[in-house]
Amino acid sequence: MKEILLSVQRAFRLQGEITDFHLLTEGSIHITCLVHLNTGKNYIFQQMNTHVFRNPEDVMQNIRRTAEYLHFHFPERKILHFYQTPSGSYFFQGWRVMDAVSGRSLKSCENLYQVQKAGEAFGRFQKEVSGMNAGMLKQVIPDFHHTRVYFQKLLSLHSDLPEFRILKEWQEQACYVCDVYQKNQIPLRVTHNDMKCSNLLFDSETGQPSAVIDWDTIMPGMAVYDFGDAVRSFASDTSSSEPDLSKVGMNMTKFKAFSSGWLSQTDYTPKERELLIPSIFSVTVELAVRYLTDYLQGNLYFKTSYPEQNLIRTRNQIRLAQKILKQESEMKKLIF
Ligand SMILES: Nc1ncnc2c1ncn2[C@@H]1O[C@H](COP(=O)(O)OP(=O)(O)O)[C@@H](O)[C@H]1O
Ligand SMILES: [Mg+2]
Repeated sequence: MKEILLSVQRAFRLQGEITDFHLLTEGSIHITCLVHLNTGKNYIFQQMNTHVFRNPEDVMQNIRRTAEYLHFHFPERKILHFYQTPSGSYFFQGWRVMDAVSGRSLKSCENLYQVQKAGEAFGRFQKEVSGMNAGMLKQVIPDFHHTRVYFQKLLSLHSDLPEFRILKEWQEQACYVCDVYQKNQIPLRVTHNDMKCSNLLFDSETGQPSAVIDWDTIMPGMAVYDFGDAVRSFASDTSSSEPDLSKVGMNMTKFKAFSSGWLSQTDYTPKERELLIPSIFSVTVELAVRYLTDYLQGNLYFKTSYPEQNLIRTRNQIRLAQKILKQESEMKKLIF
């Protein structure tokens, strides 16, 4: 590993000597390494997963545009700063380098205060990028939140599984938000698309969020899906790999903390507001559809530790979606 890191350091002309490095295991997509140099500077060396991101240059262009915009309009905000090689490339043999932002990321929040602060930080990020022209960003993963396309892929396969039947029955309801978006009834916005706890850094001293990171999936899209997906991730009681379905559900206390933090920062059109709660169901079903599709196709996309894991994840997300439907009116009352 050290040899690779040294060659990356040379390629990006980073001054000093590597004194220490740590492989960070939190990330699930790339190989990420925190590298300390004797100059006192810390960097993140990251080998990009080009199976997920087919056009790394487009990803970097989106990140650069977002960073420039935020730096200009909100200079106090911590942004991601990537380095270029002398020939102007953001990559050397698939590796890229950025400044390490101080703070620590958590797999999940440790208390309600963090949940509320996370909601605030992600909501604020969404609000701040909302002034950008979303149309100038690249769609780095085609049809990333096109729920109907995911359904089409699943339904082109054949299965006798009860999960297949349940999802098929949910198709129209789950595609409603996406259909509204396709008809341009809600605005095209800059979206982050991966607003989960491990993509937020918390300042070690103040305990406050210090930066939103992992900007690879920044794309034009639906702001309400960012909300729905973040709620799914922050307020659900288990991870999607939990096989014991009796543990699966939405925690209303966490929901209230997260959404109140988020909504204290954001502005939405009336139509978007109407779609905030339905989006939680839609993104959850969409994920179940993606897991089941991957399971039926032999686990090509999501990393698995055992062959049935994507089916377990499907069942987990279906149960969560059932719970979400039951809790929708309560959630509406809590946020409106
Ligand atoms: N700029 C950064 N500063 C500090 N830590 C970072 C930075 N970027 C990433 N990390 C750390 O590395 C982890 C994985 O990086 P991330 O970009 O989220 O990759 P993945 O897409 O694999 O999740 C993060 O959860 C965080 O702990
Ligand atoms: Mg991440």
